[in-house]
Formats: sequence, C-alpha cells, structure tokens
Amino acid sequence: MAKKPISLTVDGVRYADDVEPRTLLVQYLREQLGKTGTLVGCDTTNCGACTVHLDGRSIKSCTMFAVQADGHEVTTIEGIAAADGTLHPMQQAFHECHALQCGFCTPGMIMQSIDLANEHPEPDEATVRENLEGNLCRCTGYQNIVKAVQAGAKEMGGAAAPASTEAGVA
Ligand code: FES
Ligand code: FES
Repeated sequence: MAKKPISLTVDGVRYADDVEPRTLLVQYLREQLGKTGTLVGCDTTNCGACTVHLDGRSIKSCTMFAVQADGHEVTTIEGIAAADGTLHPMQQAFHECHALQCGFCTPGMIMQSIDLANEHPEPDEATVRENLEGNLCRCTGYQNIVKAVQAGAKEMGGAAAPASTEAGVA
C-alpha cells in the first residue's frame, strides 16, 4: 500500500515520516517512534490504555489513523514530566496515592486524568468516575485512582500539561 507523508509534533519534537494509510496512531507512536509508554490493551476503543493527547485533549490512539494526526500536536505519557525529570503533578499523585498495581492502565489513566483536571480543577468523586469510564483497570478497584486524580487535579490547579522538550525535527 502506498505510504503517505505526515508531519506532526510528538512530545515537543517535530517528526516527518511516511506511513501506510492503515497505520493506527498508536502503532506509529510505538513501532515507528519507539514510544512504548503508550500501551495497547484492546485495540478496539474499550480500555483506554492507549490514551494520548491530541492538541491538548485526550484521545484513544488506537481509534485514529496516524495520517489523521498529520499537522497536529501529540503528547504521550513520555512527554509530560519536566525536562529535569520532575514528574508531572498527576504522575506524582498516582505514585503517592498508590493508584496502580501492575501499571498497565496507568499511562492512559494519567493522560485521561490530566485532561479531566484541565476541565474540572476540583473534580468530585462522581466527576472523576464518570470521566474515567473509558479507562479500565483490572487491578486496583479504582478507589486510589479516584483519590490520585483528585489530588493531582488540586496540585495542577487546572494548569495545562507542560511541554517537556524543545521543538526540533527528528
Ligand atoms: S488499546 Fe486503545 S482503547 Fe484499548
Ligand atoms: S494497575 Fe493493573 S490494570 Fe490498572
């Protein structure tokens, strides 16, 4: 199948690549860019393990083609910590609240939670649960995840996720 050129920003770095039209965004991120922090749990838009941000809003990257991200800005779990390695407040909150066990759902949970916190700076429990309904965890029972999201949102104060790296062409 003929490849199509795409140009996009991922975690603050510009990329120009050729991809097959059928390549999913999550496949492009993991297999072409090596960003394996974004996970695949189902490939059918159910689990949320593949959640990333597209132009600052959370999306499931198994649900869109890489060519659809052409010209856009993607942020993955690998792009939210500060350049000096300081964790994003939502990452720190998940750590402090013991909001993970196996960790498979965690990158997607955190990306979804940052978007949630940007929309709802002080979310109540019902708001958190409603906004995480597309992210499944097989381990934790969600109690600590809810606590972490509330703590992370408070710490964020509604601020957008910082870009972690300088823009450049890879
Ligand atoms: S891998 Fe995308 S929602 Fe499950
Ligand atoms: S911590 Fe294991 S799936 Fe959520």
